[in-house]
Amino acid sequence: MNPTDRIAQLVEQLNEHNYRYAVLNAPVISDRDYDALMRELIDLEARHPDLIQPDSPTQRVTSDLTREFPTVQHDIPMLSLDNTYSEDELRDFEDRIRRELPDEKLQYVAELKIDGVALSLIYENGLLTRGVTRGNGTQGEDITPNVKTIKSIPIRLKACAEMGLFSNPVPYCEIRGEVYLDHNTFDAINVQREKNEENPFANPRNATSGSLKLQDAQQVAERRLSFFAYSFRSRDIQLSTHSENLSYLERLGLPVNANRALCNNIDDIIAQAREWQEKRPDLPYDIDGIVIKVNNIAQQDKLGATSKSPRWAISYKYSAEQAETVLENITLQIGRTGVVTPVANLEPVQLAGTTVSRATLHNAEELERKDIREGDTVILEKGGDVIPKVVRVVTAKRAKDAVAFEFPKNCPICNAPLIKDETEVAIRCDNSQCPAQLKGNIRHFASRTAMDIEGLGTALVDQLVDNELVRDVGDLYDLELEQLADLERMAEKSAQNVLNALETSKQQPFHRVLFALGIRHIGATVARVLSDNFHSIDRLRDTPPEEIEAVHEIGAAIAESIHAYLDDNSNWDWMGWVFNPSPNIYAHIDKGGDWNLIKKLRATGINLESEAPADTGPKPLTDEIVVITGTFTRWGRQQAQDLIRALGGKPTSSVSGKTTLVIAGEKAGSKLAKAEQLGIDILNEEEFFSKYISEENV
Ligand code: IVH
Repeated sequence: MNPTDRIAQLVEQLNEHNYRYAVLNAPVISDRDYDALMRELIDLEARHPDLIQPDSPTQRVTSDLTREFPTVQHDIPMLSLDNTYSEDELRDFEDRIRRELPDEKLQYVAELKIDGVALSLIYENGLLTRGVTRGNGTQGEDITPNVKTIKSIPIRLKACAEMGLFSNPVPYCEIRGEVYLDHNTFDAINVQREKNEENPFANPRNATSGSLKLQDAQQVAERRLSFFAYSFRSRDIQLSTHSENLSYLERLGLPVNANRALCNNIDDIIAQAREWQEKRPDLPYDIDGIVIKVNNIAQQDKLGATSKSPRWAISYKYSAEQAETVLENITLQIGRTGVVTPVANLEPVQLAGTTVSRATLHNAEELERKDIREGDTVILEKGGDVIPKVVRVVTAKRAKDAVAFEFPKNCPICNAPLIKDETEVAIRCDNSQCPAQLKGNIRHFASRTAMDIEGLGTALVDQLVDNELVRDVGDLYDLELEQLADLERMAEKSAQNVLNALETSKQQPFHRVLFALGIRHIGATVARVLSDNFHSIDRLRDTPPEEIEAVHEIGAAIAESIHAYLDDNSNWDWMGWVFNPSPNIYAHIDKGGDWNLIKKLRATGINLESEAPADTGPKPLTDEIVVITGTFTRWGRQQAQDLIRALGGKPTSSVSGKTTLVIAGEKAGSKLAKAEQLGIDILNEEEFFSKYISEENV
């Protein structure tokens, strides 16, 4: 068979197998056979790239490393649903519909309300061309590369000739539905995250929404997201009922939730609401209610919508699932920023599809308010977007001798006094040398999204800190094979692996390093923005917080935090004496003359700078000696200086006889006056912009 035909055949076969596997849950070949076909296709496509078909399964994961998702307008706004919380409110809804449409025969569809993330899909001539989030309802983010990784979403719609509607693909249609994670997949993701020292996701919905926003489609594919379609709209095909639309979606090859029912009256609706409340714990995915929709589309159109939600549909929300168990004891967890969180250790119990054995108690105030004591029987809830929490104590089951929990005054790890910041609820251990904080910092530094140092797990970090082999993350790079191999559960091979991973981590780009330092408020995305705008740790240190804040996406808290961190001499210079806030103790920490983190990291060869973008633009300011003064609307001072350099000029700080050009912004003062005196060329921001930067000059 020639390559063209074989490729076409493989694409068709693989897409069909994928559909059977992901949508029907009924595969007819083994994973191994599937992989063999896939490999053959990959191989053929590699040899004949011109023959790659747009609906080839290999196109599900492209190598697009999108930095940002473009915003796009929805064809029709994505509204939300009005919520009801009681059977009475459901009756009100049904009464309203009957009043609006007297004498009409009414039917409803009751569907599960999947607790995931809404998604709009556009298909043109049968091909998936766009996947967009709900966003603000009017505009969403175009996350097409990520959507293509969701295996149950067809890249090409199935032909539907058998319905007698269209023998060719529908020219244009929009399909909406919910992306979600089933419980098994969600648990597996969290197990992996714990292994990688990453924070587990609180619930499947958070995990879904986080996954859809990942920049790397390959990582999204690993999350194994699922999808249920619940609406179909097309100018080209208009069916008369919602239930027909759902069947049509199934024929197009989309997964549609089978747990749906036609209801003829309010009693049917309420029966559905009760049935699914009962069955909810047995479902393999989260639902937060059911949705009731008027079935007839003409009736839907008559009922119309408010600006927020359609009048023909309503959701009936279930309250969060609860479980009862015994709180065995309360321990304190010290985060890497020193915040102390009381944690309830529980007798394991099933709740909303997962086993729960720990729950956060948030803070001391909450503990006191709810009067939670060790040994209490408690009610747990996993609702909304939070980690399991203790809702209340079943005081009737409290032991007579139970005593109120007394919050320790000192850090259980380093014994430094715990302090309460007046402005915060949190209590923290203020000792930056606290081993618990250091351990947290190292775990964060080594985590997969930071420096990605494989093998540097909790057990090893604990030993490194407890044995005082590592006092800050910089020390990691001085570790020697023997030191590591001597530790418990380590051998020469595993020690060598850790050293290799450390060596490899030196290649991580600057934005990862910046994130890995664990500076407050500097998450992975912010670190990227900072790296893109300032390019090096030295530049960041030398930039005043106001200028950092001038960057889009950077708020005052971030700017202050990065400035405070980089301004802290202990991160840069040798300091013999370190203040230890334990009462009256000043600890002399003899770290030798080379103790400072940034210097240490620099010496290892770690990237403290990002690669500057290739400088290929025109250089209209060559030989010009330029002074900038005043403030600009487009640039901070640092940015303006960079701009001058990029245009070939030399920025200087004071006006003199050598100055050839002054760019004067708002509130320019003495420098402007001096330039006028000396007869130097002066441009204001607009003039400078239109002369050197606006498009025709670039
Ligand atoms: S219909 C006009 N059906 O619930 C809104 N929504 O506010 C049409 N959802 O985030 C939505 N399951 O994505 C509909 N079977 C279902 C649903 C469902 C979950 C989500 C939807 C939106 C929210 C409604």
